[in-house]
Amino acid sequence: SGGGSSEGGDGGGGDELITVGFAQTGSESGWRSANTESMKTAFSTENGFELTFNAADNDTAAQIAAVRDFINQGVDAIVIAPIVEDGWDDVLQEAADAEIPVILEDRTVSSSDDLFASWVGLDFKKEGVMAGEWAAETFGDTPTKMVVLEGTTGSAPANDRAEGFDEAIDGTAIEKIDSQTGDFTRDGGKTVMEGFLQKYGADGIDLVYAHNDDMALGAIEAIEAAGAVPGVDIQIVSIDAVKDGMQALVDGKINFIVECNPLLGELAAGLVKDVLAGDEVEKKVYVSDQTFTQEQAAEVLDDRLY
Ligand code: AHR
Repeated sequence: SGGGSSEGGDGGGGDELITVGFAQTGSESGWRSANTESMKTAFSTENGFELTFNAADNDTAAQIAAVRDFINQGVDAIVIAPIVEDGWDDVLQEAADAEIPVILEDRTVSSSDDLFASWVGLDFKKEGVMAGEWAAETFGDTPTKMVVLEGTTGSAPANDRAEGFDEAIDGTAIEKIDSQTGDFTRDGGKTVMEGFLQKYGADGIDLVYAHNDDMALGAIEAIEAAGAVPGVDIQIVSIDAVKDGMQALVDGKINFIVECNPLLGELAAGLVKDVLAGDEVEKKVYVSDQTFTQEQAAEVLDDRLY
């Protein structure tokens, strides 16, 4: 086969599989399910990989332990979707010492860029800005009481989406009356929203900013249980644009969604191959996001891939 330099082969593409350990955050949301599926498809044996998959159930210590296991196994490369930004220096240094390249996907870390080969994901701060710009345009000078359902405390998307949104609504009449973590889960969003409704009453809340669709969907349940109409009495803006979120947008229960594309598998797999081949790669690979009004969501709902 071919005139390449490899020898003694079986002539049938008998290259060895690339062993990869992937440390996923967990399975907290619809976004995460879509991301896991995209990763598993891209890191398949047909594509030349042997994948060891670990989901840490949102437990930071468990995720770091999983990465240490990958190092001890001597995998060819490690991919991480880091639950939180801080605390990665030691284990990333251990991977570097073992000469195992690390590629980050989705979330970022606060460690020095030297400690990983590349990152692929979304601009979370920009997502927050886009959500905030919608709120600023919609409510502007009208006094507006807003509550926030935050993502996992210490995670890059929770930090950056808060910062971007706050910047975009600065100088408007939108007042953040409360903000609590719902851990990016539907149950978390529901529980936190129930607490807000008890504390302020449905009449005392005009707007919910949810850091992801799943928490918005939980909030919808809480608002309906309190006898108010989500999307009308209390408006909702969220981030992700997963199927269930987009359906709620079409149904009028959510008012605006900023996309966060979970289909990062192919790009991550390409980066792993390039890094192992010694090719130069970008340190940060940004995938772009779009936004959806209720009308726009109705137009694209059937064609969405996740
Ligand atoms: O890191 C991306 C975020 O994590 C998504 O917005 C959220 O749904 C997921 O759990």
